[in-house]
Parts: sequence; structure tokens; C-alpha cells
Amino acid sequence: MVETSDEWITERTGIKERRIAAPEETAATMGAQAAKQALEAASLQATDIDTVICATTSSAYAFPSSACEIARLLGIERAMAFDVAAACAGFSYAYSVAHSLILSGQSSKVLIVGSDLLSRACDPTDRTTIILFGDGAGACILGASDTQGTIALHASADPFSGDLLSLPIPQRGAIETPWLYMKGNEVFKRAVVVLAELVTKTLEKGQMTAADLDYLVPHQANLRIIAATARKLHLDMAQVIVTLDKQGNTSAASVPLALDEGIRSGRIKRGDVLLLESFGGGFTWGSALVRY
Ligand code: ACO
Repeated sequence: MVETSDEWITERTGIKERRIAAPEETAATMGAQAAKQALEAASLQATDIDTVICATTSSAYAFPSSACEIARLLGIERAMAFDVAAACAGFSYAYSVAHSLILSGQSSKVLIVGSDLLSRACDPTDRTTIILFGDGAGACILGASDTQGTIALHASADPFSGDLLSLPIPQRGAIETPWLYMKGNEVFKRAVVVLAELVTKTLEKGQMTAADLDYLVPHQANLRIIAATARKLHLDMAQVIVTLDKQGNTSAASVPLALDEGIRSGRIKRGDVLLLESFGGGFTWGSALVRY
């Protein structure tokens, strides 16, 4: 499709394969599929869920939201349901909101879905983006617990660098072309610096050090960014869950997909301390230090 090579893509990004959604699939249908598997894994019924949050920036409809569609597809009645738009950091933001809802007593079982189809948002002739993004959905369910759960959270945004990574919607008033735009090398440099600060700050908040971590579960944008964060934490790459090689950058889905891979493969075990982190357009970034 574009002038590139497997060698360039592998060397610069670490991506070998990506998954592309079928034409009839949407963020909601993929999200519902992931949510079903999360419910099964948690031995819960759809009716146990009282809040549905979908992190996405590729919802087929502005409304009903993908979260409402997911609730409909799963038969979840009367739950609060809404989408969170924070690009690739969407899952971390959704996690923060879910945590607060549980702490406040407003929710008891929150279904968080990360679902994106950014392959459709990329200009097929733009080699700087079309090689990067894959489609996917991941889900997890949060509830209160005395023995496991969230140790520390952090989420933040830099609203002054939005033009370096954007997805304009001309129909809604954006003046640019309707394709995802990314000034890759600028985003890369910023992501490495921000993520290094983010993981340090999150561990401090949780009164832990990197030595307490069992696994890093990072956003999957670029293997060099992931490796830089692992180096900052003095973690061996064996302690990092990497799915990028098989899935590419799945935006808000990448952290829950990596979490799923880590758990289902048997690497992540009950009681393990995990650091989830992500960085995306906005710029936005967020993290969760969690005992699984
Ligand atoms: N094939 C071959 N050559 C290419 C390709 C390609 N697909 N794409 C770019 N090039 C060329 C460029 O034209 C440039 O050529 P030049 O030196 O002659 O000008 C050269 O390769 C280097 O380009 P860079 O953009 O500097 O390459 P870089 O090493 O930075 O890799 C990449 C690009 C992979 C995009 C990297 O910058 C990156 O991963 N950035 C961060 C992505 C990220 O974290 N995004 C945040 C989340 S995404 C979200 O929120 C939706």
C-alpha cells in the first residue's frame, strides 16, 4: 500500500502483525465480545454490573455511546453507561473514574472496556500512520476488595501539544483532513520523558519501588518506548507484557489486551503487583499501580 519495508517497521516499532476489524464490527460489538469474556473470567452475570465505561475514540455513534451499546448487547439494564475519550490513555482514565465511583459508594461492579478501530482512521497512503494501528477490544471488571486492587493512580494531560497527534472530524467542525495525524518523532520523545516521570510518580504515591513490581503492563505504541520505560525501572523485559508484535497499536484497547494476555498466559498470578501505564493524543497519560 505504501513505500515501506518489514525491516523498517520491525526495527522502528517492534510490530510484526496487526488485526483489522471486519467491516460490520464496531467499537461496541468488539467491546461487548471482550466484556463477555471478562464476565466469564470473573464468574459474574451481566446483571451484576452497575456501571459500564467504554474508553474509545472510534465509537461508531456519538450517541448512543459505545458503553450504552455494549450494555444493550450484554442485556445490562439500568446501569450508568458512558464513553471516555482520552485516546491511547483512555483505559487509564476510565480506570481512574471507575475507582472513584467504587470508593464513593456509587458503583459496586464497574465494567471497563477499551475498544478502538483506529486502522479506519488512518490515511491508507500515509506510511507514517498506516503501519502502526490495529483494531481491538479488552475489558476488565472492578469491584471493592480488602486484599487486592488499586494501590495508586495518576492521570494527567498536556493540552498544549494536541496538534502533534490528532484525529479531526470535519463533519463536526474540524478544519483538517479526516485522517489521524501524528508527528511521530516528536510524540516519541515526549512519550519517553512523560512515561519515565509517570511510573516514578505512581510508585512514589503507592509507597513502593520498582523492586516491588512483578509486571509492567504498558500501552503498546512502540517497543523502543516500552523498553525505555522498562530500563528506567531497571526491569528485565521478561517482566514486561508485550503484545505489540502481534497487535500493533490498538489505542485504548492495548492495556486491557496486554493485561488479558498476561493473565490468560499464566504469567500474571493472583497477588502480583502490576503497573499499568499509557500515553496518547491530547496529550493524555495515566497509570494504575494494582495488586491483582
Ligand atoms: N517506512 C519507511 N520509512 C518511513 C516510514 C515507513 N512506514 N515512516 C516514516 N519513514 C521515514 C520518514 O520519512 C523519515 O525519513 P527521512 O529521515 O528521510 O525524513 C524516517 O523514516 C524517520 O522518520 P521518523 O518519524 O523520525 O521515525 P521514528 O524513528 O520516530 O519512528 C514512529 C516513527 C514509529 C511513528 C515513532 O516515532 C513512534 O513510535 N512515535 C510515538 C508513537 C506514540 O507513542 N503515539 C502515542 C499513542 S497513539 C494515540 O494516542 C492515538
